[in-house]
Amino acid sequence: MILVTGAAGFIGSNFIHCWFSECDERLVNLDALTYAGNPANLSRFHDDARYHFVHGHIGDTALVSDLLLRYRPRAVVNFAAESHVDRSIHGPGAFIHTNVVGTFNLLESVRVYWNELPASEQAAFRFLHISTDEVYGSLTLDDAPFTEASAYQPNSPYSASKAASDHLVRAWYHTYSLPVLTTNCSNNYGPYHFPEKLIPLVILNALAGRPLPIYGDGMQIRDWLYVEDHCRAVMRVLQDGTPGEVYNIGGWNERPNLEVVQDICTILDELQPRADGQSYQSQMTFVPDRPGHDRRYAVDASKIERELGWRPIETFETGLRKTVQWYLTHDEWVSSVTNGEYRTWVAHQYGSAALKS
Ligand code: NAD
Ligand code: TYD
Repeated sequence: MILVTGAAGFIGSNFIHCWFSECDERLVNLDALTYAGNPANLSRFHDDARYHFVHGHIGDTALVSDLLLRYRPRAVVNFAAESHVDRSIHGPGAFIHTNVVGTFNLLESVRVYWNELPASEQAAFRFLHISTDEVYGSLTLDDAPFTEASAYQPNSPYSASKAASDHLVRAWYHTYSLPVLTTNCSNNYGPYHFPEKLIPLVILNALAGRPLPIYGDGMQIRDWLYVEDHCRAVMRVLQDGTPGEVYNIGGWNERPNLEVVQDICTILDELQPRADGQSYQSQMTFVPDRPGHDRRYAVDASKIERELGWRPIETFETGLRKTVQWYLTHDEWVSSVTNGEYRTWVAHQYGSAALKS
């Protein structure tokens, strides 16, 4: 049995799909169901005896302590977080509340539980914290990709809150010997991605005839990884990672945003051409840049490749095509997420004209 947090969101729900495609070990998902948590992502498992859903906050120590005693997991995988940089700029408080205080409370609940385990279970126990490459800050074009030894230089409220949580996790290892693992992954994309993030936003705006908003000059670089490759990496780290160690995960796949948007348009032009015969690229619109926008992220994933034998399976071309196809064939999911709260966010971030086609 493992306890996974925040797995009604994008990466966590993909993780659960990957988990049950590879094993039958039972899994409890603790999720607060914020705007980003969507039980529809996991509808396939609603009647599955291997899967248990619990609605709640990682910072609720009474609830988490009770869950730990009831289910006695051999591992905790912490995906729960506020995850969107733009939202962190408008309202950083929620990021501190969940990513910093929530992670602290979760660590404390887990430490109390772990302390009481028999020695053999203590040794086998793992607390795997899912983090981001954004904690390392921004690279210039000439800089080498981030390694596990890169200095922490977070620039957004989101990345600062994730950096703080990483530091807490590290300290619980060094101070209390809690067997922790941390992964720092690059930008993910794929099925079940909430359409506030670049790739799903562009796919859905393109199909709805809306502007495709490109911040600044569109030459910011991200290192994109297909979400299932990330999930497989997390499983490898959980299985064979060394406690106290950090593993960077990335796709060796750096792209400027402009190119990502053009690639999506090219795939859509082929799979679902516009009625007027024009390319979706005609909807591209440059909008004011994000404050403090990091210029470039790039991950050196050689440690996890060397030590744990993980490698991404998808290339950006195959992964992006799969992703576009997924959004084209999941209308029901799309309408379930593009609800009132989502529309309020889009109007707030891009202006109410952005909702009109
Ligand atoms: P997401 O926003 O899609 O999902 C977050 C989930 O956490 C949601 O289901 C939400 O309901 C839940 N949640 C939020 N606050 C909670 C709380 N206090 N208690 C319990 N559940 C809570 O995020 P995601 O993109 O799936 O990211 C998952 C993790 O991976 C995050 O820690 C994020 O920092 C990290 N990460 C994301 C990316 C990416 O590209 N999306 C890349 C690297 C790392
Ligand atoms: P995002 O998906 O928000 O991920 P992150 O900020 O965590 O990297 O954004 C990816 C890149 O796309 C980032 O450089 C910001 C840019 N972007 C746009 O140009 N337009 C948009 O509407 C969004 C949401 C992002």
